[in-house]
Amino acid sequence: MNKTQAPIGLFDSGVGGLTVAAAIKQVLPNESMIYFGDTAHLPYGDKSKETIVQYSLNIAQFLLNKGCKIILIACNSASANAFEEVRTFVGERAVVLNVIDPVVEYVGNEPSLKNIGVIGTKATINSGSYSNGIQSLRPDVNVSSLATPLFVPMIEEGFIFDDISNGIIRSYLSRPELKEVDSLILACTHYPIIMNQIHRFFNFRVNIIDSAQIVAERLKFILSEKQLLNTSAKASHQFFVSDHTDYFEIIAKMFFGEKIVLQRTSI
Ligand code: DGL
Repeated sequence: MNKTQAPIGLFDSGVGGLTVAAAIKQVLPNESMIYFGDTAHLPYGDKSKETIVQYSLNIAQFLLNKGCKIILIACNSASANAFEEVRTFVGERAVVLNVIDPVVEYVGNEPSLKNIGVIGTKATINSGSYSNGIQSLRPDVNVSSLATPLFVPMIEEGFIFDDISNGIIRSYLSRPELKEVDSLILACTHYPIIMNQIHRFFNFRVNIIDSAQIVAERLKFILSEKQLLNTSAKASHQFFVSDHTDYFEIIAKMFFGEKIVLQRTSI
């Protein structure tokens, strides 16, 4: 297979990275994807750096075995804790990307943003990747970060449009850290799934920054720069999980926009 026709590999701890896969499908309709959801080890956000690195390297090897031209870490917790390790491990075999750098760059180039909130898992927030990255480009902005660890299990368990999710969303978003924000970065690829509820909580006056679109545009730029864009083949996608959950299949269809066949595999 010619390198341009090789698939894009992407991974997350569960369904979250599908929000990125859906954006890639829109922005790059010719590209084939291989998605890996590490549902056996979810959530990553509460794990140590060493553990997240180990899981990420195993998945990177799996995606390399599948011949991927790109390995996109479609998980903020793994991007924040394992990007350099995955990049070193993969070397010249594929291009490795994360979901944090494109958002940091986007914010760095948006002079209208002044008070930025960041919500994510403990692993992402404690790494300081967003706050340090943004402040090195824009020392003039305030960045307030808040770990919101219950959102991932809540979403994975299907609590999205009900009293439980509304209560948890209200409880986190009314914390003093987010009082003054004019923009909020969803620093977890699961969170776009509750984007409407977050908008509603803030009465639509806070600009919500969802990384999926920004990352997909960045990926397009990099593919074109490296002459890896697939301009000919018809895209086909494969989805792997390390543990099968019925809910994954339901939400996967909901967020990917088409029925998907899940293959269980151990890594
Ligand atoms: N979707 C993930 C992220 O972006 C994973 C969260 C988790 O597994 O805790 O951080």
